[in-house]
Amino acid sequence: MNRDLHSIRRDYQFEDLLEDQAGSDPLTLFDTWLEKAIEACPDDPTAMTLSTVDKDGWPHSRIVLLKQRNESGFSFFTNYSSEKGQQLDQSNKANMTFFWPALSRQIRIEGTIEKVSRDVSETYFASRPRGSQLAARTSQQSTVIPNRSTLQNAFNEEEQTFDGQDVPCPDNWGGYVLKPRFIEFWQGRPSRLHDRICYTSKDDNWIRTRKAP
Ligand SMILES: Cc1cc2nc3c(=O)[nH]c(=O)nc-3n(C[C@H](O)[C@H](O)[C@H](O)COP(=O)(O)O)c2cc1C
Repeated sequence: MNRDLHSIRRDYQFEDLLEDQAGSDPLTLFDTWLEKAIEACPDDPTAMTLSTVDKDGWPHSRIVLLKQRNESGFSFFTNYSSEKGQQLDQSNKANMTFFWPALSRQIRIEGTIEKVSRDVSETYFASRPRGSQLAARTSQQSTVIPNRSTLQNAFNEEEQTFDGQDVPCPDNWGGYVLKPRFIEFWQGRPSRLHDRICYTSKDDNWIRTRKAP
């Protein structure tokens, strides 16, 4: 690439993040920031980078959509047989990173992951658009396929099979929930003097610290 990437930079400023505003509960702060992101970032405000590790310790990252945040943790849905699913079978340690450029904000969440109940997965699956339901049955996510038409043909077959009927949730499709043990809120500030407020879980409490940017 011939373009000069060095010159692509901006000064960050939206608000500051001082201890008083951050409070003592990172989950409340997460909800406040996500609400603001939903208002300010029309495209995929719930998108986050999910990082998992394989059995050799190699990290793997990809975007998924947050679908719920409740007392159990942070949930997303996927194919359990996918690469991420296989990695989570081997190590349940994972990281979620949200980035909202319009707000100069990043949140990093580290924790352990488990599957949600079958009931939760089936209820969410039933709420999805029909095309997404058929695609979930069609796509053996992360497997190598010969070409696009193989996928389209498999989709068409599923469409015919379930014509006039509800599309059942595949056994290998469902949700995961991450229980957080560390959460960092990054607020971009001028001259790279950013705010980083961190929370570490200890004995059912959150210990708050500030890190240098
Ligand atoms: C905006 C966006 C949203 C996505 N949401 C999901 C999702 O919620 N679940 C999912 O399984 N994949 C989602 N994907 C696709 C994943 O990034 C990834 O390609 C797929 O899950 C396969 O990952 P794996 O092979 O590492 O398992 C999304 C991709 C993008 C760009």
